[in-house]
Amino acid sequence: MVVTAAITALGGLLFGYDTGVVSGALLFLSDTFHHLSSFQKELVTSLLLVGAAVGAIGAGRVAERIGRRLTILITAAIFVVGVLLAAFAPVFGVLLGARVVIGLAVGSASMTVPMYIGEAAPPRYRGALVSFNQLAITSGILVSYLVDYGLSSSRDWRLMFGLAALPAILLFVGMLTQAETPAWLVTHGREDDARRVLHRLRHADDVEPEIDSIKEGAKRQEVSARELFGPRLRGVVTVGVLLAVFQQITGINTVIYYAPTLLKTTGFGSSASLLANVINGVVNVGMTCVAIWLLDRVGRRRLLIPGTCGMATALVLIGAIFALEGSHLTGAAAYVVIVALFFYTGSFAIGLGPVFWLLISEIYPVRVRGPAMSVATFANWAANFVVTISFLTLLHAITNTGTFFLFGFLTVVAVAYFTARVPETKGMRLEDISAQIEGRRVQPTGPQRSTRPA
Ligand code: BGC
Repeated sequence: MVVTAAITALGGLLFGYDTGVVSGALLFLSDTFHHLSSFQKELVTSLLLVGAAVGAIGAGRVAERIGRRLTILITAAIFVVGVLLAAFAPVFGVLLGARVVIGLAVGSASMTVPMYIGEAAPPRYRGALVSFNQLAITSGILVSYLVDYGLSSSRDWRLMFGLAALPAILLFVGMLTQAETPAWLVTHGREDDARRVLHRLRHADDVEPEIDSIKEGAKRQEVSARELFGPRLRGVVTVGVLLAVFQQITGINTVIYYAPTLLKTTGFGSSASLLANVINGVVNVGMTCVAIWLLDRVGRRRLLIPGTCGMATALVLIGAIFALEGSHLTGAAAYVVIVALFFYTGSFAIGLGPVFWLLISEIYPVRVRGPAMSVATFANWAANFVVTISFLTLLHAITNTGTFFLFGFLTVVAVAYFTARVPETKGMRLEDISAQIEGRRVQPTGPQRSTRPA
């Protein structure tokens, strides 16, 4: 099972690498394509996010129809095509097109990978295994920073983009060795195949109960994708969408994509800014590991809520320092801001980062899981696009102080919402989670399966 999670999480690695690599590559594109305007640079960055939003919407349908495994195989193939197109782009337009193609694959991977792992994993370890994906995303970001840094002397932006072909090929080959998920097989009339897969993934005693529970879940959840926004599912769909939007409008990618830019304008040198960026990447990976260790022990809410409180504290602190010291920082104030940025990233990595992706793989009934995860993932990419495209403008319009206070305020709103609405799902079977969310009573089914209400 760990191998399965590791192979599929290559999709997460590509997600992180392809979103992170552009920050360094941008510096050298003008060597090849002369006179690039800032707008053209913004396009290279953000067209990937547009592609990802479209990919996320499309992948849900496709995963329902042809299965999770085949969808991930196609996604890996699209990754390879997009990455090679970017690496060998003869003209700027082709590079832009390649970023959209890579985006389609990133968006598709960002929902199909947690869905695949979520359905294949035993309830007891689901939190840790699904969050392998977030670990892969953060590792991909860190690797991209290191590659950018390592290739900066040769200014080889083509290789920066092109290296992503390796994990894409590995994902394709690795997925060939994996099976379709039991939930998809049962709901598509292939119970015997599901049984065979479950015998490989579970203890023999758990196989029949799980088949029954998937069937039971599918029967009582006779809903079509059209009903996603109907009264029965509206509540749970809204939870997923708001988690997605809060994950982005609390500002994580302004730090991931723009921290060096921000640090430079506040008085740090280039190398100090890049070093701080790499350390931030390490904090992101390190705290994600802590989250993986804790998610199935203490639960989702007990990481999500304190983590988001930590993010709010750091944002307000940074806003206050800019308010007191002005936008050019020196001495202790500069270091407090850096440490607060690390604290912010660490707090995200232990809570909202992994918990969003985990919860959207858990809270929806199996029949609508594909489309519902697509909607949440689409909302995540769309919100990411809006924040990314407007951040630099926002800094100009309302200053550093205003921007950080605004993110701080939105983060406080997020804490209030999570406290009121986000369910606890630790250790429960997926079918029981959706039953509970839809307000039905759940029978306890085993020692590890907590049915404690949220
Ligand atoms: C988010 C990404 C973000 C990353 C940072 C993910 O959970 O969805 O937008 O770049 O975390 O670690």
